[in-house]
Amino acid sequence: MNKPTNSQQVGSLIGTPLSRTATKVMLLGSGELGKEVITSLQRLGIEVIALDRYPDAPGHQVAHRSHVIDMTDGKALAELIALENPDLIVPEIEAIATPTLVELENAGKVRVIPTARAAWLTMNREGIRRLVAEELSLPTSPYRFADTLDEMRAACDAIGYPCIVKPVMSSSGKGQSKVDNASEVDAAWEYAATGGRVKNGRVIVEGFVDFDYEITLLTVRAINANSQVETQYCEPIGHVQVHGDYVESWQPQIMHPKALENARHIAKKVTDDLGGLGLFGVELFVKNEMVWFSEVSPRPHDTGMVTMASQVQNEFELHAKAILGLPVDTSLRSPAASAVIYGQHNAKAIAFEGVAEALAIPGTDIRLFGKPESFERRRMGVALATAKDTDTARVNAKQAAAKVKPMIVD
Ligand SMILES: Nc1ncnc2c1ncn2[C@@H]1O[C@H](COP(=O)(O)OP(=O)(O)O)[C@@H](O)[C@H]1O
Ligand SMILES: [Mg+2]
Repeated sequence: MNKPTNSQQVGSLIGTPLSRTATKVMLLGSGELGKEVITSLQRLGIEVIALDRYPDAPGHQVAHRSHVIDMTDGKALAELIALENPDLIVPEIEAIATPTLVELENAGKVRVIPTARAAWLTMNREGIRRLVAEELSLPTSPYRFADTLDEMRAACDAIGYPCIVKPVMSSSGKGQSKVDNASEVDAAWEYAATGGRVKNGRVIVEGFVDFDYEITLLTVRAINANSQVETQYCEPIGHVQVHGDYVESWQPQIMHPKALENARHIAKKVTDDLGGLGLFGVELFVKNEMVWFSEVSPRPHDTGMVTMASQVQNEFELHAKAILGLPVDTSLRSPAASAVIYGQHNAKAIAFEGVAEALAIPGTDIRLFGKPESFERRRMGVALATAKDTDTARVNAKQAAAKVKPMIVD
């Protein structure tokens, strides 16, 4: 029998890794989220090839093969794809040569998860924002785009203060700032120029949404028992962001039933349009019953690391199964929380003290990502905690994270 190269339902036939029948998946990006996706794929007997821009990335350490490559270099990426000939390509990060993926997919040479178009649209805030607000007519913050300081000043004045400025090509809050009045516009422009992936690039100016809380709604498009693509939702994940970067999350976030209905409606519309198979992290702002779309990752989400403790199948297993054409179970097992462990030092090969003390706290668990180099604000690990309710879980996860002390070893 031939192996099901690039077929829609790879899961109907899984081969043997490192053999001629292998089902091969290539991860574009091999950070902590990729590492967990790879582990889930490995458990299903998939041959995994992990790519990242630096050696010994977390995912490199658990894959069958790894490559170090600048994934924004379309030519280099196409060459590597041709060399490895994977059945599926799974983007884990935004900063990749998505136009190359679109070309290869259009030529029938690859299958990109969830689709090359989704990866392309979501790597730039403008693509996804225009789609969701202007084509799908879903609620978002008011917004404008600007290419120069003058344009940005006009955009801020038009949107009103406070507003939020972000490079269109950025993630994890890089280059993002809140602008409270006109005197802060110059500084926000400068900051955006340093934080974007493209220097002096375009920015989005968004009206500030005074939300009660924000959530990630993990939404999965998977093949069900009737061979149909079905959309399933995880329980909402609440989270806290500091300077645009996630510091803690919990699940379930209790919501007004009407707000939950609105959230699912938005998530369904957006993920239907993006299409394909896999898990999406739909970020939403909530105030009373009102819900605004913020952004979407067509892949596991950092705030979703809590599902390693809270769900029967965590977000990484859900993604792995869904992309292979297998059925999924999105049910909650226990309330839980996650808290980020930062590097606190700028150094290579740091060590961690206090893991035993952290694990002495009831219901906790720790993940250390194995990143070869630490930065003060680099995410090096995460503490997880299950408890009878999310308030207790949050306290325990934060305590556990605080017990883990990164240190420099001479
Ligand atoms: N328009 C907005 N109004 C209020 N808060 C916002 C707005 N945009 C972003 N934020 C805050 O900043 C965080 C990061 O913004 P986001 O657009 O998700 O950037 P990133 O792609 O870096 O995650 C959000 O999770 C939210 O807490
Ligand atoms: Mg975000």
